[in-house]
Amino acid sequence: MIKTAILGSTGIVGQKFTQLLLNHPWFDISVVAGSKRSAGLKYGEAIGSKFSCDLPENIFELEVMPTTLESVNDADIIFSALPSSIAGKVEEDFAKAGYTVFSNASSHRMAEDVPILNPEVNGDHIRLIEEQKRRRGWSGAIITNPNCTTAILSLSLKPIFEKFGIRCAIISTMQAISGAGYHGVPSIDIIDNVIPFIKNEEEKIKNETLKILGTPFKIADFKISASCHRVATIDGHLQAVFLETEKEASPKEIIETMDKFSGEPQELKLPSAPKKPIIVKQEEDRPQPRIDRLEGNGMSVVVGRVREDEVLKGIKYVVLGHNTIRGAAGCSILNAEYLKTKKYI
Ligand SMILES: NC(=O)c1ccc[n+]([C@@H]2O[C@H](COP(=O)([O-])OP(=O)(O)OC[C@H]3O[C@@H](n4cnc5c(N)ncnc54)[C@H](OP(=O)(O)O)[C@@H]3O)[C@@H](O)[C@H]2O)c1
Repeated sequence: MIKTAILGSTGIVGQKFTQLLLNHPWFDISVVAGSKRSAGLKYGEAIGSKFSCDLPENIFELEVMPTTLESVNDADIIFSALPSSIAGKVEEDFAKAGYTVFSNASSHRMAEDVPILNPEVNGDHIRLIEEQKRRRGWSGAIITNPNCTTAILSLSLKPIFEKFGIRCAIISTMQAISGAGYHGVPSIDIIDNVIPFIKNEEEKIKNETLKILGTPFKIADFKISASCHRVATIDGHLQAVFLETEKEASPKEIIETMDKFSGEPQELKLPSAPKKPIIVKQEEDRPQPRIDRLEGNGMSVVVGRVREDEVLKGIKYVVLGHNTIRGAAGCSILNAEYLKTKKYI
């Protein structure tokens, strides 16, 4: 078994890591780490009543370690669910010390030599890892996964981009409150409300999507415009997507292309790979977050309402994905599984 440490283990994404890794066939949890607030406490005490997912009681007795190289030394790889404000330096310290770090933070995503990996979409970007080690002289490396919205969007765009090309994409999001972290949005602000602003999210969707759909050193060349909104669902980001494709494509062709899509994680039968990365629903009122977010154990994205768009002379559809699973911890774990089969860890 490969020993793993979870940094930021007590937060929303950290708890999801803990839940997904507990019965993992290849990875064992050897360290859970937190901030000064939690270090030294038992995991159950540190979380208190701030549960973001179901966890078995045996994990509650683990001691939360401080987030330092000295304390997190009983691990082969690192899963980081740290806030971006501190992830930059901490993740670099671990990579320099020889660890492969799977990061959920935005700090390193746009560095030229750091892959933003979503393995069904851009497995070939693992080539950047050697370049990163060479340029920085590190024995370890940082591998990021996309921001939650981009992880879901880029998976739905991949088969369309490959087969028909994309000239422009317009995206309007309805993002769950768990996407902002445990202390993210005060309840008084979000109950009975929609907040039409998520800091830096529109830029992340644009920049990360173009990097992921490009080749390792060249970003994809199409226009993206996004508008992001926080809504009062707990988990599951829903996005309305409007596309102008390079080659004409009917809704039927788009549905067939998405429905047939499968990637390397499916071929390799990786433990966290969903059987179908994209599930297309035919019902006129799906996907819905409460009903559909756990499709493929939260690792599939669910597409619906594929239809013609008269204005862009293209197509439009709705896509849903689980933000803390495909959009965060689940994607990171899939990245680690992918790298293990490619002999990087
Ligand atoms: N939520 C999502 O859907 C989502 C999706 C994709 C990516 N992300 C990214 O994932 C990361 C974690 O997000 P989250 O939603 O899980 O946030 P969160 O609920 O606020 O959790 C933050 C975690 O970081 C720890 N932490 C905070 N300050 C620290 C410090 N100075 N030193 C060490 N640990 C510290 C916290 O520990 P204590 O409990 O001990 O304070 C907690 O475990 C962020 O970078 C976020 O942007 C989140």
